[in-house]
Amino acid sequence: MPDSLPAPPPALAALLARASVPPRQLGEPGPDPAALDRAVAAALCAPDHGGLRPWRFVFVAGAARVALGEVLAASLARREPATPPERLDLERAKPLRAPLVIAAGAALRHDHKIPVWEQEASAAAGTMNLLNALDAQGYGAIWLSSAALRDPAVKLALGFAETDALLGWIYVGTPMVDRPRPARTDPSPHRRWWAAP
Ligand SMILES: Cc1cc2nc3c(=O)[nH]c(=O)nc-3n(C[C@H](O)[C@H](O)[C@H](O)COP(=O)(O)O)c2cc1C
Repeated sequence: MPDSLPAPPPALAALLARASVPPRQLGEPGPDPAALDRAVAAALCAPDHGGLRPWRFVFVAGAARVALGEVLAASLARREPATPPERLDLERAKPLRAPLVIAAGAALRHDHKIPVWEQEASAAAGTMNLLNALDAQGYGAIWLSSAALRDPAVKLALGFAETDALLGWIYVGTPMVDRPRPARTDPSPHRRWWAAP
């Protein structure tokens, strides 16, 4: 950012400072219920064509993370039957890396005039708001994906319909090290003005 710019207002400063925290750096405590509610409230401020309210967040904490690990390991074993036991153990242990895992999804209306991609875009925008809200409240979080997100059995286990979309695993906790705030890339290659030719 050029130095000549005035300091950004606090909300923008928070957006400009957001950074993911890797699961290995996420410790206890996870967010309290009030902080989580605020984060979900922020998610619900995402744009929403048709007012379909597609945002769905499933919180997995404590012992439920062990059960989620079993679901993930079973999914991997089904998809790739030759997976060695050690790799299954790694998959099983994944949800234990942070105090809270949020399955972020979209309840999709496939019969609606609003295209599914717009519904998914709204759910993804909501998930980004959730990440920003967690970061702004001092928690660390990261959005991760895996092939299990597309497994109908995993969706069903988490209470989604097979026709819904799982968009990601949001790992959340308290940053255990000083949070790196990486210098972001120069915005100029990412924007241009258009004028009629
Ligand atoms: C939909 C989505 C899925 C992602 N999945 C992964 C993933 O599986 N593994 C990973 O290392 N990063 C993944 N990322 C990237 C991280 O969330 C994060 O953006 C990246 O580590 C860069 O950190 P930053 O957010 O501080 O720039 C994903 C991001 C998005 C938007």
